[in-house]
Amino acid sequence: MGSTIAGRSSQEVAKMSKKAASDVRPPFFITKEEERALRINAEYLSPSLVVTQPTSFDEYTRQLMVPPTVMDLARKASDIRLSAWEVEGIRAQLDPEGGLLRRILTEKIKVDNTHKGDNTHPPYIRVACTGKGDYDDLAGEYGYQATQHQHPGDAGSPVVLEIWPAQHYSPMHSHGGTTGIIYCLAGQIDVMVYGGLSWDADKLGLLTLTPGQCAWLAGDQFSVHKVYSPMDGGSKAVGPDNLLNETGDFAATFHVYLNEDEAIPDTYVPAKPGSRETFRFVNEKTREVEDFTTYSDLSWHVLRKVLADYAA
Ligand SMILES: [Fe+2]
Repeated sequence: MGSTIAGRSSQEVAKMSKKAASDVRPPFFITKEEERALRINAEYLSPSLVVTQPTSFDEYTRQLMVPPTVMDLARKASDIRLSAWEVEGIRAQLDPEGGLLRRILTEKIKVDNTHKGDNTHPPYIRVACTGKGDYDDLAGEYGYQATQHQHPGDAGSPVVLEIWPAQHYSPMHSHGGTTGIIYCLAGQIDVMVYGGLSWDADKLGLLTLTPGQCAWLAGDQFSVHKVYSPMDGGSKAVGPDNLLNETGDFAATFHVYLNEDEAIPDTYVPAKPGSRETFRFVNEKTREVEDFTTYSDLSWHVLRKVLADYAA
């Protein structure tokens, strides 16, 4: 990481967590005290991890060295919101009583050891804004026309809507080599950034994005993170032993990932091997680093039809 931190050092933060190891739980495995320190650290990351329209000299200065490609992506996304009917529709489809999105979550947990399956962490849903998704055919069971296809969803969509059920989280993963943004559309989303990709990697900072706020990554800058939806997931703790929540609450984020040859022309971004087609992540169970092909679960044109019909 090229970033500097004016808050506590990672060693100081790590010592804090040892004091109360019994409080350390998923998704971030940190104590309350450590969380406070990491939230302060996030405020001191330079350049700023959050891209906003500056309202002070200080904010302007902290964003000065954010790569121009990132600023362009953030500016283009800055007016995007989910409408009230889209939010309501997604909540209904995530409801434990049933719905397309709840069904996809249960399918994702069931399927293990394939490109689709991952029961090592509570699932989230990737909606490809281009191309098709692995579970598009499921929409047919809900009365929608969707092409049955032998080939699963397309890999590596550059523009993805991610739906984070309350209390669900991603594993720690790296987008190394891509330039992109994580833009909050609905709810709240916690983002922890790390100094490298390993179970024991230094934690650099923790922040909560709310609608309209944007975090970013480019090359090896902020390329490793873990994302968690801190919304109300019900009475039972969600984690390795309980991979599904009890509510329809969620957060939604809009992600853009440009491969290095698409992030043009940007001499500020360090060149690193890697692309959006394959991410690397730390398996929550084995704690080993693995590769993940970035198939999407659903395509936006299918979800939009489902939401529009629910609203009607
Ligand atoms: Fe990510």
